[in-house]
Amino acid sequence: MNEPFEFYKVSADYIAERMPFQPEIGIVLGSGLGPMAASIEQPVEIDYRDIPNFLVSTAPDHVGKLIFGRISGKKVVCMSGRFHSYEGYDFEQLSIPVRVLKLLGIRSLILTNAAGGVNLDFRPGDIMIISDHIKLNGASPLRGKNVDEFGPRFFDTTRMYDPELRALAKKLAEDSGLRVHEGVYFFMPGPQFETPAEIRAIRILGGDTVGMSTVKEALTAAHCGLPVLAFSVVTNMAAGVTQNALTTEEVNETGHAVAEKFSAYMQRIIGEM
Ligand code: HPA
Repeated sequence: MNEPFEFYKVSADYIAERMPFQPEIGIVLGSGLGPMAASIEQPVEIDYRDIPNFLVSTAPDHVGKLIFGRISGKKVVCMSGRFHSYEGYDFEQLSIPVRVLKLLGIRSLILTNAAGGVNLDFRPGDIMIISDHIKLNGASPLRGKNVDEFGPRFFDTTRMYDPELRALAKKLAEDSGLRVHEGVYFFMPGPQFETPAEIRAIRILGGDTVGMSTVKEALTAAHCGLPVLAFSVVTNMAAGVTQNALTTEEVNETGHAVAEKFSAYMQRIIGEM
């Protein structure tokens, strides 16, 4: 079910009464990247649980609150904790957070995720600016009756990952101390990590990183005309690339290890957005 416009308004009205200012930029933090929230100045938090019609995150290491505050002088709202289809949410429900942020007035959206490295030139700890994505399985978050107030039934996705924002991120990558690539994110629904054969197929199909999030937020943003800047943090090489088994611990450890540099890089980008 895609809910009517008023459904999202209920959540947005509740938040609007409690937020300290109208935010300019929305940020979604991925697995293991929660510590980035520490860079938010003068934070004001709203628990997801208190927001009517909102979702509750169940994923490990996802906290579950909206944080309003300033980063590099910009007014931001950060989703610390995101929602995934593997938690049992329908794809249509996963449109809720971005639509609510849109109603709060954000002008652009930054998405981050922890992802497996499929491209053999990548290493754990690398960052990838997402230029495009591939989602061959799972429904669209825009499935169901179109909510015309947000956007048209059929919509373009060729500029979904905003070229100007990507150019800014590339420019600022140079002295970030991080290895920053640009490439294609391949969505897999999880919660199991992929099989080595799936990863070989994804590589042939053109995926550079693989993960279980991001695409439904990006598609929802494209529908309502919000420019997106998205990043994968390569937390591990994807299944079968090394002899090692994949673990959540490795994902979170790499996320935490790069969080400080990544957060400094994000702060510089946000300052120039
Ligand atoms: N696959 C899918 N999702 C992930 C991975 C992975 O290898 N690493 C972090 N999130």
